[in-house]
Amino acid sequence: MAKSGDVVYPAGYEPAHEDVKSIETRKSLLNAILGDHSKEISEDLDTDLFEVMKRRRSTRKFDSKPIEKWKVEKILAAADTAPTAGNFQGFEIFHIKNIKMKEELVKASNDQPYVNSPLVLVFCKNQSRVKLKFPKRMLAKFAIQDATLAAAYSQLAATALGLSTIWIGMIDEKKVAEIIETDLVPSSLLCIGYPVKRRYPKPRRNLSDLIHVLE
Ligand SMILES: Cc1cc2nc3c(=O)[nH]c(=O)nc-3n(C[C@H](O)[C@H](O)[C@H](O)COP(=O)(O)O)c2cc1C
Repeated sequence: MAKSGDVVYPAGYEPAHEDVKSIETRKSLLNAILGDHSKEISEDLDTDLFEVMKRRRSTRKFDSKPIEKWKVEKILAAADTAPTAGNFQGFEIFHIKNIKMKEELVKASNDQPYVNSPLVLVFCKNQSRVKLKFPKRMLAKFAIQDATLAAAYSQLAATALGLSTIWIGMIDEKKVAEIIETDLVPSSLLCIGYPVKRRYPKPRRNLSDLIHVLE
């Protein structure tokens, strides 16, 4: 039984950092993971959010180098910091470690081979968590926004950690759900790894065309 002040880990979850266990003042695992700025971690971490945004570029060629466990933890914890409708967290994340499942996810994503990347996360809607008195249609909308925001937070976190990502929206939702054995509806996959080559960000439209100022 956990005592007050103990760090409580979800079942099946093993933190990479031994020292996390001894930090009694930190009440939550999330704080422990996100607040860890030990030297080894700081060297690989870009904490300037705007630099991270400027630098992010999708990657479709990943190195086979595995991702350090502490980076995976930070990416997952970052998702948990995203705002959600009513703070009900209407989404779930499936961290796919199973090699066979990754191969099947390639097929369920219109044969996009880069889906089979070192780190594969499937974000799903879970509108049953959203306990707000609104029509179902609205709750479904909240859940997809929750799942999308969480994936975007993970994507930025991965970039801050020197990794690259590809967001996969072209999925057969039914097939993905079958593969990962869930009744939930998947919203997107986030595939993460070290890029074979770092590339410059893609251009966008002019800000003046994008922003519509109404006075
Ligand atoms: C909603 C959404 C769906 C996407 N689906 C796919 C996809 O299925 N396959 C893929 O290769 N890229 C996909 N992408 C990545 C986009 O192609 C990429 O973000 C876009 O070209 C801009 O490039 P950048 O991310 O390097 O800025 C998707 C991105 C978003 C936001």
